[in-house]
Amino acid sequence: MVEQAAARNGDRGLDAKIARLSARRRDGHALDQCFYADPDVFRRDVERIFLGHWLCVGHASRAAQPGDYFLFEVAGESVIIVRGRDRELRALVNVCRHRGSHVCYEASGHAKVFVCPYHAWAYELDGALRSARHMPADFDRSGHGLKKIHLRVVEGLIFINFADEPIGFGDAEKVVRASAGPYGWGTARLAHREVYEIAANWKLAVENYVECYHCAPAHPEYAKLHANEQPREKTIEVNAEMRERTAKLGIDIPEIDHWTTLAPAGEEGALCMRSAMRDGKVSGSDNGGPVAPLMGDFKDYDAGVTFFHVGVSSYFLAYPDHGLMYRFIPKTTQTSAMEVTWLVRGDAREGVDYDFDRLTWLWKVTSEADKTIIEHNQQGIDSRFYTPGPYSPMESAASRLVEWYLAEIA
Ligand code: FES
Ligand SMILES: [Fe+2]
Repeated sequence: MVEQAAARNGDRGLDAKIARLSARRRDGHALDQCFYADPDVFRRDVERIFLGHWLCVGHASRAAQPGDYFLFEVAGESVIIVRGRDRELRALVNVCRHRGSHVCYEASGHAKVFVCPYHAWAYELDGALRSARHMPADFDRSGHGLKKIHLRVVEGLIFINFADEPIGFGDAEKVVRASAGPYGWGTARLAHREVYEIAANWKLAVENYVECYHCAPAHPEYAKLHANEQPREKTIEVNAEMRERTAKLGIDIPEIDHWTTLAPAGEEGALCMRSAMRDGKVSGSDNGGPVAPLMGDFKDYDAGVTFFHVGVSSYFLAYPDHGLMYRFIPKTTQTSAMEVTWLVRGDAREGVDYDFDRLTWLWKVTSEADKTIIEHNQQGIDSRFYTPGPYSPMESAASRLVEWYLAEIA
C-alpha cells in the first residue's frame, strides 16, 4: 500500500513536471533540452509510447521455419518471437515462470524447446511449460507457461503490443496492406539487417527520419535519386506523373494520412505517401537503375517510392524491386538503436539475382550519415546555450510528431 501510494505520488510529480515543461514550448518550435535529457521523461516515453503502441519487430522471413526465433528487446523487456509447430508466430515474454531468469539468451536461432539455463524448466514453442525438474507431484504446469503478448502479422510485417488491451490496429493494418501488398512484402525475404547504435535520445532519431529538410545537405546520394527535394509545385507535378505510371501498371496505392495527430480515435496511427524518383531513376541504387528482381504486382518500374509509417517507431519504404524497414528503439535517455532491414523478392538469390553491395549501398551511406547528424544534434542540444528553434515548413512531420508526443506523454 505504501509503495503504491509512493508510485502514485511519483506519477503525479512527473505529470506536473511534464505539464510545466510542455507549457514552456513555443508553437512550431523544437523541444526543450530536458525532453532529450531527463530520465523521468524518458521513463514516461517508454511507458506511453513503446509499451502502449504497436511496434514492428521484424519481417516474418526472419523466423521462416517452425522453431526459428529471434529476440526483440526494448526498455528492459525481452520478447521471444518464435514460429510454432503450427507455423504461427508468437511473442513470448522471455521471463521464466520459475524465478524469472531470461529463458533464452541467444539473439536468434532455432529451438525445439526453450530450456531455461538456470534450473532447466523447459517450454514448448507455444510457451506452454513442458517440464519442471523435481517439482512436487501436485505442481500445476498448465498455470506456468511463458506469458504471451499481442502479435499481428500484416504483409509479412510482425507487430507486437505489450498492453493487456492494446489500442486498435485495424486502421493501421489497412494502411499496411494497401502499401506493402502491391510490393509483395508478404512473401518477401530479408536480405540484410543492420543495427546502428546511436548516442542520442530516440526522438532525435525519429524526428530526423520524418523530415527531408536535411536530405539535400546531408544525403547527396539520396537527393540525386529522389525528387522530393524540389520546389513544391515541381514536386506536385512529378508525383502526379508518377501516379499515372503506377495506375498504368494496374496498381493502386492509396495515400492516406492517419498518422500521429490524424490517427482515428483509439487507433494506432499510420500513413502512406508516395514520391517520384528523379528523371530516369527507378530504384534506390548507386545509379538509380534496377537493383533486384521486381516484386509483387510490379511488372515494370513506376519510378516511384512508397513511404509508410506505423506509429512513431516503425517506418517502411518500398521500391518496385526492394524494400526497407526502419525501426527506432530507445535504450537509455541518450542512447537508441536504429535497425535497418532490406527486403527482396522471396526467391531472389544473392550474387545471382542481385548484388549485395549494390542493394545495400544507398541506405547504408544514408543511415551512417543520419547516425552522425543525429548524434551531433544531441551534443548541441546538451549545450547550456541550446534554445529550441523553429521548424521549417519542410519539417511539418517532425513538428506534428512533437505535438502528438507532448499530448501522448501528458
Ligand atoms: S529461473 Fe528458470 S528454471 Fe529457474
Ligand atoms: Fe536522413
